[in-house]
Amino acid sequence: MSTPVVLIPGDGIGPEVTAATQAVVQAAGADLTWIEAPAGLGAAERLGDPLPNSTLDLIRQHRVALKGPCTTPIGKGFRSINVRLRQGLDLYASVRPIHSLPGVRGPYSNVDLVVVRENTEGLYSGMEHFVVPGVVEGLRLVTRSAAERIVRYAFELARQQGRRKVTFCHKADVLPLSDGLFLSTARAVADDYPFLGFEEIRVDQLCMELALDPTRFDVLVMENLFGDVISDLCAGLVGGLGLVPGANIGVRYSVFEAVHGSAPDIAGKGVANPIGLLRSAALMLEHIGQRKAAKRIEHAVVQTLQNARGLTRDLGGDGNTRTITEQLVANVGGAP
Ligand code: NAI
Ligand code: MG
Repeated sequence: MSTPVVLIPGDGIGPEVTAATQAVVQAAGADLTWIEAPAGLGAAERLGDPLPNSTLDLIRQHRVALKGPCTTPIGKGFRSINVRLRQGLDLYASVRPIHSLPGVRGPYSNVDLVVVRENTEGLYSGMEHFVVPGVVEGLRLVTRSAAERIVRYAFELARQQGRRKVTFCHKADVLPLSDGLFLSTARAVADDYPFLGFEEIRVDQLCMELALDPTRFDVLVMENLFGDVISDLCAGLVGGLGLVPGANIGVRYSVFEAVHGSAPDIAGKGVANPIGLLRSAALMLEHIGQRKAAKRIEHAVVQTLQNARGLTRDLGGDGNTRTITEQLVANVGGAP
């Protein structure tokens, strides 16, 4: 039976990388029925809401979505669609696997870690207000229940993937109450997993350690804002934003999307790299039990990068979205 999946093309390069991803997913033999739904700046202009209720309802009905990036205008009082989506569907875990890939230039060749980010609280709770003109207060929400479920998610992921260690990242010295609560909760959860390693690290030190030697990390877990920053940093360690996939997981629903944004600087030029979204689709296929198609896609990505033909400019090639997609489709055909 074909699995229905809600598809949100999004803004900027979103529709370009979405179309490319659909072509490769189909060539991989995945059995999906795409149900297209609007979100983003385009939806705001056409329908008056960047995240229409009809789109949320479709995800609630079908449970799974693949999403292109959505533009959030800076400083216009527009609440981020992504934050609304993650909070509205309680997609509490953002999961971003960071692997070195063959043929990709970068400072390291053997990175293999996962960033697990709390996706619903922290400074991104969206609670900001003017106290008086010229003074704004932003609230950083931490609850024991959300801290516990994200750290537990990280340990369960480590266990399922046969990983060795969970590193909890914080700034509890400067934020003794909020990160103090997160840290003590993380320690209590770690006690339940004596067979896995656990370490604690301050976020600033983590940045330095990641730059020096990212191979010493395995699973990283942290609050929302730190996770946003650290996941882009980690993307830079393995070849950039165009390559890294992501999943937003909740108890009932999940939304898969690349780490990158709508890239307005290259939108409409046909040069965007679709691999980040394509690998997000592979994570989705794995999640819904279509493992064979997921494996074929990962194989095609590796093959395409190794052959180094038709690659987009961010990968050092002189190709474009069309040429890299042709290569991916050809290589998915040859996959076992
Ligand atoms: P961005 O990720 O869109 O772009 C940063 C840089 O990376 C740009 O130079 C861009 O050309 C390049 N890049 C990104 N994806 C690429 C790809 N697939 N292929 C080749 N090059 C790629 O980040 P930026 O510029 O900070 O944000 C642009 C917009 O995207 C903003 O409105 C932001 O709010 C939104 N955004 C949305 C996200 C989402 O929907 N999940 C996530 C991040 C940002
Ligand atoms: Mg980000």
